[in-house]
Amino acid sequence: MSSLENLSYEERTFAPSPEFAAQANAQASIYADAEKDRLGFWEKQAAYLHWDKKWDTVLEWNSPYAKWFVGAKLNASYNALDRHVLEGRGERVAFYFEGEPGDSRAITYAQMLTDVKKAANALLELGVKSGDRVAIYMPMIPEAAVAMLACARIGALHSVIFGGFSADSLITRIEDADATLVITSDGGFRKGAPFALKPIVDEALAAKKTNVKNVLVVKRTGQETAFDPEIDIWWHEILERQSDIHEAEFFDSEHPLFILYTSGTTGKPKGIFHTTGGYLTQASYTHRVVFDLKPETDVYWCTADVGWITGHSYVVYGPLINGATQVMYEGTPDTPTKGRIFELVEKYKVSILYTAPTLIRTWMKWGDEFPQGSDLSSLRLLGSVGEPINPEAWMWYREVIGGNRCPIVDTWWQTETGAIMISPLPGVTATKPGSAMGALPGIVAKVVDDEAKVVGKGGGGYLVLTQPWPSMLRGIWGSDERYRETYWSRFDGKYFAGDGAKLDEDGAIWLLGRVDDVMLVSGHNISTTEVESSLVSHPNVAEAAVVGAKDDTTGQGIVAFVILRGGIPSVGGEELIKELKAHVAKGIGAIARPKQILVVNELPKTRSGKIMRRLLRDVAENRAVGDSTTLADPNVMKLIQTGLATGKSED
Ligand code: WT7
Repeated sequence: MSSLENLSYEERTFAPSPEFAAQANAQASIYADAEKDRLGFWEKQAAYLHWDKKWDTVLEWNSPYAKWFVGAKLNASYNALDRHVLEGRGERVAFYFEGEPGDSRAITYAQMLTDVKKAANALLELGVKSGDRVAIYMPMIPEAAVAMLACARIGALHSVIFGGFSADSLITRIEDADATLVITSDGGFRKGAPFALKPIVDEALAAKKTNVKNVLVVKRTGQETAFDPEIDIWWHEILERQSDIHEAEFFDSEHPLFILYTSGTTGKPKGIFHTTGGYLTQASYTHRVVFDLKPETDVYWCTADVGWITGHSYVVYGPLINGATQVMYEGTPDTPTKGRIFELVEKYKVSILYTAPTLIRTWMKWGDEFPQGSDLSSLRLLGSVGEPINPEAWMWYREVIGGNRCPIVDTWWQTETGAIMISPLPGVTATKPGSAMGALPGIVAKVVDDEAKVVGKGGGGYLVLTQPWPSMLRGIWGSDERYRETYWSRFDGKYFAGDGAKLDEDGAIWLLGRVDDVMLVSGHNISTTEVESSLVSHPNVAEAAVVGAKDDTTGQGIVAFVILRGGIPSVGGEELIKELKAHVAKGIGAIARPKQILVVNELPKTRSGKIMRRLLRDVAENRAVGDSTTLADPNVMKLIQTGLATGKSED
């Protein structure tokens, strides 16, 4: 990536208010502290955890293999639960659970601990041992967190598989991890109706012979469910007969904690493998400083499902270790109304909200009347994660959701990094809409060019991490070769994140999306994100996805798919498309002017909200559309193609 001269420069900055800055957990000096003595800094962060035995060595680094807090011992579930109860915080609410149908429960730390102890005893009764793998396939209900912590408590690895995945995806992951137990539920609630999970587990297990001995089933919906008494066990029945006494065993700092398969838009899913001490240190540290958590007074809500890394680090481990009170919501944001999330913010007086750009843009599309229908004045900090946030969406988030008073933290990280790596510190950093700003204290991130040379201000290239960090992946389950190849071979000795990035004139980092999402037009590298942001900054555009399609003259031509605010116009569409092309040309430069703009009603997204550009490229290049089984809504591609037959525009 070399030609970034056309990229616009963001001049708006938003400094933290003096009041926020004064009370913030992290002050400016933290950067200098970390720089002076990086490993000493991480030791200080680790000291927030309870260790049964302290480490002998902070870091052993045999590139690309890291061991953190070597020789130390701890237990993840003890840190998340026992500690709070022993120190007098047992009556604090851990989760305000809100089911989609409107049922709700407040669960204290003491109650969570009792449930986890019983669940741990149940796992032991079923013969699960330290080091075994347990697959968890559940809706977003508290039992999912209980199941994860029960595994961690006895040293078994959990492998959570998102409840929206098919039987095929499920069996691939169960097999790859060689799980011996599956924890699931009869089903959950979504879009106003119950959906079933247990039959999908049955279908998966019938398809292949595995080492799964039992299936533990949480009763959530009460649906009729086939039950094989040899294999299936009701969660409530086995828990009922367990003792609520269970002493947590302390494991080595490098004891495996979990495997999590990345959703991966291409190739076989990768089992990303994390261990205990370093992961918990960085998950809790980042949760404390990036979200500025004040456990006694804040109500924190991360909208991610536990099936994703965000749910692992910022629903389960980080927040519970820090003693947070959180909201957990089972359903979708549009049920029963498009204001559901905002109603819950009002109901629980949520003060910290962490969500994804895809939802923020969806809210923009639905209209301001929904957030304006609820009292959002309890909010004091907003977070974003998952993909680059367009400046337009960032501004909307700030104004409409945050009432211009809440700092926004745009947090860059990956399943592989385990915890946040690049983000503003809310009481310190003056933020720019759309930029994740800079590496957190303790983290070293650089932008390098094709030859691995670090670029200067104003330059662009690839994001790399040049120093090991505590919560880094320890490998890909069962495939050491792929681990080295994927992350460590592109730039010798540096971790290659796979994301394009640029540094602006002030040295702020701008993430440009996956490098496969960079287009080459007449020899210029243009990121899909930047063209998308430009399109979304036009008042008539709600969402945009951009791909590079083969072009005989320019190498690649830019093809944009846009969703308009207020739907597809019946007249005057051509005029608007001309205007949009001119808008991009003016904002970024003539080189970025889309060759073609197609107006659509939907965009193809994975269940984690990532746009599947590969499928759009098929449409743009007039090919049959490839495998779309990982789409959240498999019908979207049909809709797009039918819609396009009527609304093409090219000049
Ligand atoms: C990829 C990792 C980390 C939890 C959710 C995704 C993209 C993530 C940002 C951000 C720009 C971002 C990157 C990254 N990404 N956060 N704030 N700005 N891009 O986890 O599924 O492992 O995906 O998501 O492309 O590589 P994941």
